[in-house]
Amino acid sequence: MSGGTGGAAAPEIPPAAHRPAPSSIPHLESEHHVTLPFDTPVRAPELGPTGRPMPVIPEPKPVAHHGPARVVAMCNQKGGVGKTTTTINLGAALAEYGRKVLLVDFDPQGSLSVGLGLNPHEMDLTIYNLLMERDVALDEVVVESGIEGVDLLPANIDLSAAEVQLVHEVAREQTLQRVIKPALASYDVILIDCQPSLGLLTVNALTASDGVIVPLECEYFALRGVALLKTTIDKVQERLNPDLEVDGVLGTMYDGRTLHSREVMERLVQAWGDTVFHTVIRRTVKFSDSTVAGEPITEYASSSPGAESYRQLAREVLARWQHDA
Ligand SMILES: Nc1ncnc2c1ncn2[C@@H]1O[C@H](COP(=O)(O)OP(=O)(O)OP(=O)(O)O)[C@@H](O)[C@H]1O
Ligand SMILES: [Mg+2]
Repeated sequence: MSGGTGGAAAPEIPPAAHRPAPSSIPHLESEHHVTLPFDTPVRAPELGPTGRPMPVIPEPKPVAHHGPARVVAMCNQKGGVGKTTTTINLGAALAEYGRKVLLVDFDPQGSLSVGLGLNPHEMDLTIYNLLMERDVALDEVVVESGIEGVDLLPANIDLSAAEVQLVHEVAREQTLQRVIKPALASYDVILIDCQPSLGLLTVNALTASDGVIVPLECEYFALRGVALLKTTIDKVQERLNPDLEVDGVLGTMYDGRTLHSREVMERLVQAWGDTVFHTVIRRTVKFSDSTVAGEPITEYASSSPGAESYRQLAREVLARWQHDA
């Protein structure tokens, strides 16, 4: 130590009491300013990513037997918002909680089927045959998804013809409801992955469902079109399916580091209130990687935050359904 004054060296950082008073910082020069003792923890309330206090979401109770199923449509006419990703991963997470799940590919793009490793050109029977041919039974079309506890009703481009052909059918909006009826007794949850449109296939999905989940990408333009979706849901409720409920709006591709994502969440909560799930799905490349691998994220990257988010969503939907039951 240099200096050689003989006494203890002066500390380089002055003690707290000798630091400039906070009042020298202009925006704190307020008569309301309170100086807290140095080590008083300043705690913000525990707000979740939606800006609301995060509730405790209970662990789901195991089920003793399967059925009757709750049918849920994954619906948003905007493309690329996470409908298929949510169908696969929520389905897989519900199966981890012991639920028996049927995933219904109701999009002629067949992304759900491809995402689960099926080849669109090698499908003998698809949901198209089930919808259009009276002699085809559900059991003949359902395949194993490769995920334990999860089955799949596959689709491919043939389904686009059904949309045209159904127009001439009697009770055309109720066709899907009629053909999936035999599955209600043996599954706990049936998730329908809709195509990005509000056409006849989507109306069929809404008519067949007890609930709708609306995945919404956390970016500004995602909010456009939501009013039209709500009008469609209202019309189906009025005319075809009075029991249809909106189970929840799910923020996807959320990036908590950007003000933009947080603002979109805030707007969503303003518009839809508590319908917005407390769970949000963050943006991560793990989702596209797991699709390439043909696996749900809960298996591909089992302990990743994305997998955990879908497990939390599964707990949240089960709690909501139990509450409504
Ligand atoms: N949370 C996420 N973070 C990053 N990428 C994601 C996330 N969720 C989905 N994706 C990716 O975004 C793309 C679109 O997702 P997905 O296919 O699930 O949307 P979609 O709503 O089903 O689309 P479409 O309307 O075309 O059916 C996919 O490549 C998927 O891997
Ligand atoms: Mg899709």
